[in-house]
Amino acid sequence: MSSPSFTLKRTQWCGLLRSEHIGQTVTLAGWVQRRRDHGGLIFVDLRDREGLAQVVFNPELDSLVHSSAHSIRSEYVLAVRGLVRERPEGMVNPKLTTGSIEILAEQLEILNPSKTPPFMIEDRVDVSENIRLKYRYLDLRRPAICNNMLVRHKTAQCVRSFLNDHGFLEVETPVLTRSTPEGARDYLVPSRVNQGYFYALPQSPQLFKQLLMVAGFERYYQIVKCFRDEDLRADRQPEFTQIDLEMSFITEEDIISVMEDMVKTIFKEIIGLDLVTPFPRITYAEAMARFGLDRPDTRFGLELVDVTDVVKNSGFKVFADAAKKGGIIKAVNAKGAASLSRKELDDLTGFVAIYGAKGLAWIKVNPTGWQSPFAKFLSEEEKQGLTARLGMEEGDLIFFGADSRPVVNTALGQLRLELGRKLKLIPENQFAFTWVIQFPLLEYDDAENRYVAMHHPFTSPMDEDVDKLTAEPLAVRARSYDLVLNGNEIGGGSIRIHRSEMQSQVFSALNIGPEEAEEKFGFLLEALQYGAPPHGGLAFGFDRLIMLLTGRDSIRDVIAFPKTQKAACLTTQAPSSVTATQLLELGLKLDVSSKKP
Ligand code: AMO
Ligand code: AMP
Repeated sequence: MSSPSFTLKRTQWCGLLRSEHIGQTVTLAGWVQRRRDHGGLIFVDLRDREGLAQVVFNPELDSLVHSSAHSIRSEYVLAVRGLVRERPEGMVNPKLTTGSIEILAEQLEILNPSKTPPFMIEDRVDVSENIRLKYRYLDLRRPAICNNMLVRHKTAQCVRSFLNDHGFLEVETPVLTRSTPEGARDYLVPSRVNQGYFYALPQSPQLFKQLLMVAGFERYYQIVKCFRDEDLRADRQPEFTQIDLEMSFITEEDIISVMEDMVKTIFKEIIGLDLVTPFPRITYAEAMARFGLDRPDTRFGLELVDVTDVVKNSGFKVFADAAKKGGIIKAVNAKGAASLSRKELDDLTGFVAIYGAKGLAWIKVNPTGWQSPFAKFLSEEEKQGLTARLGMEEGDLIFFGADSRPVVNTALGQLRLELGRKLKLIPENQFAFTWVIQFPLLEYDDAENRYVAMHHPFTSPMDEDVDKLTAEPLAVRARSYDLVLNGNEIGGGSIRIHRSEMQSQVFSALNIGPEEAEEKFGFLLEALQYGAPPHGGLAFGFDRLIMLLTGRDSIRDVIAFPKTQKAACLTTQAPSSVTATQLLELGLKLDVSSKKP
């Protein structure tokens, strides 16, 4: 059965009507926000993508139209034709951009009724995220979410126009491909034509963009979906979008400078903010020393201070033992926070335990002297050493972590962020960008018992460190750079290896033997032998960028149809089981009973 057609065609957006339209007859189309009846008059707030407008149905004007307006309910779809007029005195709503006008309805078409929605279509909804995601098409009607999508659209346009103007070519790369190692698990797609073989969905277009540089494209970009089967968090989705780019015949400086210009253009065009460039740069080593994390939130202080040399021989066993085992002792001075209660200190001890800390030693500098569970074990010299190193003054609360370097850095780095939030030290509406540069090329993976690439295996070592690749692999720094905004990693990239011998050398440092290298990356090694230019690039996490531009806490709020923590799409109920025939065609047999996510 075909749907009945409609006769009233929209001439104006509801949300864009202004007083200059007074006197015009317009046709609006949209959804009913609400209907109110007032002494015979019926008021309907009609909503479209651009906003709300008030429509008035007067029984004296047309009783038929007025009586059909009676049946209108929330979320009905209407087309209304009528005269735009000034609202009577006292009826003006200054909170609404259309608040000074209304439309006196002359014709009405109810295009579709609606069931009562499971939640109000308003910015403040008090409903679980799962319900919102199940009815995402209704959730997307809410102005705030709709606006996030608008910002996303505008930012994509802005990025495209900037990169087009700077000589970048947009090239699409395959989605059915083979594994690109970016450190996560692959999503696999079984091949029907080649049974027993699988495609991997790209974790990024890394290898293809490098091949495009070998092809001589010079400057490539793509706003592209990437797929990573990893544990999900507020800033991680299994499929997400990158602004991916690559350039030839360049150094780190060229990429950093073009990217700073791009970010500056985005912030100016989208939120009208003038950013100051160049952004500060900090080495990975310095970031870890001062902030404990490789994505420092530089909007506030509370920096970590190493006190290992002061307390390594302490009578406090926790400190002495950590130092003896080759670990470190670091401290954070929470200035003026000595008033925190015992319960709050216990909660913070619980908080750092999440990050592997075995405890959280503390000292309060009270007017009567130090209060601390362990200060009695410290010598006078150690007390003086700590006071000087940490600038300890009356009213301060100092926290200590003693353990292996990674545990101390992570636990105190996270504690610093928690204290920043708790003590309200983080200024809102501030955008603090930092480039973190010179990451280690490799890190040791205890689970796999081998070195793995910190960025990816195609990243170039720094020239001055290449000699250490065999003897001292962990000391080799990479020509890599991450862009961090308010403690979020929003982008990362590197100068690549463009010579096949160097690529083989790095594969071998990663314990990828010549046969495995040939099997997995033979095409890249071969391509590098056909005149690969020096090249490098970067990818921005587009969702994270939009999240920060719109001031949201989760990238789920800036993705039209995001997945849950369990990687499920609640709108379509994906993933789902498949039929026996489909499995047969793919030559697959399941040996697990499929569980609903
Ligand atoms: P990288 O793995 O650092 O680099 O990814 C680049 C940026 O993508 C974002 N990102 C994510 N966003 C949402 N959900 C995820 N699961 C997710 N994973 C990553 C981050 C990150 O900074 N090929 C390289 C880039 C290059 O070297 O040019 C790459 O993918 O903001
Ligand atoms: P204990 O000697 O275990 O009773 O601990 C004394 C204090 O040191 C307590 O406040 C603990 O929370 C703290 N503490 C224990 N282990 C560590 C550690 N590895 N790093 C920092 N503080 C610790």
